[in-house]
Amino acid sequence: MEEKRIPRHVSIIMDGNGRWARERGKERIFGHFEGVESVRACTEAAVEEGIEYLSLFAFSEENWGRPDAEVNGLMELMMRSMKNEYRTFMDNGVRFVVLGNRERLSSSLNATIDEMMEETAGNTRLTLILFLSYSGKWDILQAAKKLALKYRDRADELPEASAEEFGDLLVTAGIPDPDLLIRTSGEERISNYLLWQTAYSEFYFTDILWPDFRKEAFRAALDEYARRDRRYGKVK
Ligand code: IPE
Ligand code: IPE
Ligand code: MG
Repeated sequence: MEEKRIPRHVSIIMDGNGRWARERGKERIFGHFEGVESVRACTEAAVEEGIEYLSLFAFSEENWGRPDAEVNGLMELMMRSMKNEYRTFMDNGVRFVVLGNRERLSSSLNATIDEMMEETAGNTRLTLILFLSYSGKWDILQAAKKLALKYRDRADELPEASAEEFGDLLVTAGIPDPDLLIRTSGEERISNYLLWQTAYSEFYFTDILWPDFRKEAFRAALDEYARRDRRYGKVK
């Protein structure tokens, strides 16, 4: 029997926390609390399945536009959850990385992130990436600015700049593009997430709300991925 095809990089747009809470007559923040349990479950499943990279869209640049109480609640929750997970990350060989517009995060959250990233840098089993204050257009724009600076004094060489070179200027430099992109809660859109990097990702949409998305649901997405035929524009 052929071995099941496992994606190297799984990325998830974790959506539906607010609706999950509302369905239970609770404040939206309760959905975010419960969502942390799904993060833990999916991280565990990713380690068990031998996935190399798991990336999670936790907070978009647009999410800054939500009411202050929700934004502050989310930031506090992130800080607390990171600290809580430290031991588990070390025990399970998880390297923790945060990518996004870090300038917009508080200095205390940035300090915690720096510490977590340094402490887990040597772990090699799974790289867990949290996209915080991230948007795809922001990423492409900051890369374009870097490219402009790089070629400032040698504009004649610019036509030779490659997609690979540009990709190395994105915040995801060195990380393989997602093989599988999952979005929960029934929404079927990219919401300014990884725009460049999902050029050939397989998309998987599910109606399950993020707080209900646990190991079984994660494995169902992997099963579906294993059945997909990736052609990259070519003929088989
Ligand atoms: C996803 O859940 C988490 C974040 C975007 C921070 P939502 O908060 O978007 O939940 P819904 O979509 O309103 O249900
Ligand atoms: C996308 O979810 C962002 C994250 C999951 C962090 P949103 O709930 O913000 O997206 P829209 O508003 O439905 O497009
Ligand atoms: Mg949402």
